[in-house]
Amino acid sequence: MLKDMYQPNPEFAKNANIGSMEQYWELQNRATEDYEGFWKSFAEEKIDWFAPFTSVLDEFNAPFVKWFDGGKLNVAHQCIDRHLDTKKNKAAIIFEGDRGDKEVITYLDLYYNVNKFANLLKEDFGVKKGDRVVIYMPMIPEAAYAMLACARIGAIHSIVFGGFSSEALRDRIEDADAKVVITADGAYRKTKPYMLKPVVDEALKGETPVKKVLVVERNNEEVTWVAGRDYSYNELIQDKSATCDAEPMDSEDPLFLLYTSGSTGKPKGVQHNTAGYILWAQMTMEWVFDVKDNDTYWCTADIGWITGHTYIVYGPLAMGATTVMFEGVITFPDAGRPWKMVQEHRINQFYTAPTAIRVLHKMGEGEPAKYDLSSLKVLGTVGEPIDPPAWKWYYEEVGQSKCAIVDTYWQTETGGHIVSPLPGATPIKPACATLPLPGIMAEILDPETGEKVGEGESGYMCITRPWPSQIRGVWGDEERYKSSYFGDVKKDGKPVYFTGDGAVYSGDGYITITGRTDDVINVSGHRMGTAEVEAAIKKHDNVAAVAVVGKPHELKGEGIFAYVVLKSAEGFADEVEEVKAINTVIKQEIGNIALCDDMIFVPDLPKTRSGKIMRRILRSIAKGEKITQDISTLEDPSIVAKIEAMVNCATC
Ligand code: WTA
Repeated sequence: MLKDMYQPNPEFAKNANIGSMEQYWELQNRATEDYEGFWKSFAEEKIDWFAPFTSVLDEFNAPFVKWFDGGKLNVAHQCIDRHLDTKKNKAAIIFEGDRGDKEVITYLDLYYNVNKFANLLKEDFGVKKGDRVVIYMPMIPEAAYAMLACARIGAIHSIVFGGFSSEALRDRIEDADAKVVITADGAYRKTKPYMLKPVVDEALKGETPVKKVLVVERNNEEVTWVAGRDYSYNELIQDKSATCDAEPMDSEDPLFLLYTSGSTGKPKGVQHNTAGYILWAQMTMEWVFDVKDNDTYWCTADIGWITGHTYIVYGPLAMGATTVMFEGVITFPDAGRPWKMVQEHRINQFYTAPTAIRVLHKMGEGEPAKYDLSSLKVLGTVGEPIDPPAWKWYYEEVGQSKCAIVDTYWQTETGGHIVSPLPGATPIKPACATLPLPGIMAEILDPETGEKVGEGESGYMCITRPWPSQIRGVWGDEERYKSSYFGDVKKDGKPVYFTGDGAVYSGDGYITITGRTDDVINVSGHRMGTAEVEAAIKKHDNVAAVAVVGKPHELKGEGIFAYVVLKSAEGFADEVEEVKAINTVIKQEIGNIALCDDMIFVPDLPKTRSGKIMRRILRSIAKGEKITQDISTLEDPSIVAKIEAMVNCATC
């Protein structure tokens, strides 16, 4: 039996959607015994089909799989239209702006707004089924309308996080071959306006596939308008009809692309398709957050990340819930802001990242106690392993020792949660993602043998059967899809999906995620490929070579540590200026989220004789650990001591 377990609150469990471990096992065993039957019944029950599917899972061409083939549906219909009979006046979205401005959007409002938006895209911009539309937006309701309008007409959206630079935006636009960009003039941050449109202008300079840009005027500040390309949403939307038929989509038609970091310098366009994605988004909302009809649910993510896609927009709306959308910064005007919002909106489920919890704890230790947080029932975390002190504070101070904490493990590619406690059933062990969700065949495998590892042992976090919301492809690159996810681990001779994460069975089959096994680091819950940061740094003229590694960071989880070899020794004349210059390049190439926490100029990097950089050594040095690896195979073993001395000197 596991020690230090927190049992579900019995009062809560009584009404929970899954209220006991018996129920959990009943579901999971059903899935194990009759996998297709399990998914068939949920797909029939949860989705409002225009035409029924004829097969459940087609693995003929694995790892390219098809779910619910033959079925026709529309995600905007699933998220809006089907609720109108029973919930037309229910709040679909509660928006709170950075300056405290509020707006309640009912399901009927949402229906009209999305229809008008869809008509605008079709009539004024000529957007058709299958076209790619890039959305580069702040956290305002129009961002959700844009997503749902694309879904309504069958266009494929690709949201680019508003913190990405013009270069990063340009890359994503080009890779997706997008013909339209939807943006805003700007938004507010800490009550100050900031601009987005100039970033779009920069990204579209020179040759571009983009023909038209739609600009939501939120700030009403002066921006440049390119005639024949840029149009005001606020003007065009005025005369649009509020009805627009939802396009019948095939189950396997693409719904969206979302670019994410991998182990090369080029981000991957992760493709999610229609039926399987929306089914699992909805089911996990019901199971993991246990949202009831009168509940108000708030996820603090940004729509630029998968968490914002699945758990601000698609999941909550698919189940007909009320979702809060927040434009501001959770520590502004002080670290009591989220708790003030919980009190005011009587929020029942609150979902955020460990990095936010650490910051809120550090900046506002006693803040939760100042507010009435009695409405809270479920607290969630996502994005990185949560450390026990942050978990404890969240549980005791925010949840007042009565709310379940669901430590949800998943990733862009899985579409929705994979391993997570169920708040009314699973005994919780702090900082542990616990068990695979019913229907998900997640196992920790030995990468060599493909066998499931034993209790207390670590291995690779894999998913051994296809699941409905799994990634369907890397946009435009079939090979990369296969090699990135199905190349490393084989079970019974067959390639299985590997998440890129390491994990350990920590008792009773419980899964504790230990972190990435590849060169992807997790900075404030943002996934960052070290190769992507290296590629940016290399663009600086004076950089000869670079290696980037992650280093534990008190608040961010991991920080970015760069070892840079300069071309010319003059670079050393003014180190501070050189660091600034390199960070400016990173800002241009990726954005502020990739700025280095530490940068050190070294004479060379530790390389094997075949030229491979030994990042493990660099990781150990960054952490201040003793080097235990064999360095005799290095081209120049003496470089290790030199780098160690430089790092110690810089950090002492
Ligand atoms: C990490 C975010 C530990 C993991 C939804 C994964 C986690 C990556 C957890 C995906 C968790 C996410 N515990 N690690 N609860 N949740 N991760 O694609 O390394 O932005 O592979 O999706 O975040 O990041 P992504």
